[in-house]
Amino acid sequence: MIKKLLAFPLMLAFVMTPTLGQAKGNISAGESKATNCISCHGGNGNSMIPTFPKLAGQHASYTVRQLKDFKDSERNSPMMAAIAINLDEQSMEDLGAYYASQTISDNLPPVIFSDDDDDDEEAANRNNQEELKTLMSIGADLYRNGNLKSKVSACIACHGPNGEGNLPSSFPAIRSQHADYLIKALTDFKKGIRTNLPDTMMHLIAQKMTEREIKAVSFHISMMK
Ligand code: HEC
Ligand code: HEC
Repeated sequence: MIKKLLAFPLMLAFVMTPTLGQAKGNISAGESKATNCISCHGGNGNSMIPTFPKLAGQHASYTVRQLKDFKDSERNSPMMAAIAINLDEQSMEDLGAYYASQTISDNLPPVIFSDDDDDDEEAANRNNQEELKTLMSIGADLYRNGNLKSKVSACIACHGPNGEGNLPSSFPAIRSQHADYLIKALTDFKKGIRTNLPDTMMHLIAQKMTEREIKAVSFHISMMK
């Protein structure tokens, strides 16, 4: 009996240690450092600007790596370089832990606008609705199955069935991200503008995607929860 009682805290310590070792960031320290981020990324990491990414619910390891890459100019963004230059490693860890603890907000369904002022507004609206339906189904199919013909890998393999990403592999969560930011990110990968980690395959994947596929899969991901 005594042996068992003694063994319990020991076992607990053994189980807890690796988790403690990983949790380098401090959530409340991160929350106060995040006041500098609110203007662009919103309160609790849910940006209101569709081309600025939401950070809420993102894996801490991914956030930290992006911040390092902005600081070292491995990922190009003049706005973020100016911010990241002032962050030390502990601050990055704290910010990563804070945003990981927040919940990402839902998006409104995507909307397709007519290019020019159509004479027949009703017909244009109907066409836009049809196009939206088509894009959503192309996006869902691409996410699950990839494109066998053009050899686009299925997103699900790395970003998970619900866009939750993969924590141990540091594959980012992408669900409920703004569609406009997703389109920008994928286009940047495609054109080689987003430069960090060429070995992640996102360059190769995006290069094989058409603009229409990028839009379709971004619409789909923006509605994933
Ligand atoms: C002046 C506006 C602005 C401010 C302030 C700002 N950011 Fe950003 N941030 C951006 C933009 C724009 C991007 C997208 C860059 C791109 O398109 O590649 C971004 C991207 C990021 C990313 C990458 C997200 C992803 O999904 O890949 C992280 C992480 C990030 N910011 C963290 C922060 C943190 C932490 C702060 C505060 C310390 C902060 N940002 C302050 C504008 C800003
Ligand atoms: C082999 C694994 C893998 C596959 C398959 C994959 N991704 Fe990724 N994806 C990654 C990794 C790793 C990153 C982070 C890259 C970085 O840090 O620059 C990423 C990043 C992204 C980002 C940027 C996220 C952000 O917050 O800036 C988007 C968007 C994205 N992937 C969409 C997709 C889509 C859409 C597909 C399917 C067509 C896909 N990915 C397939 C591994 C993958």
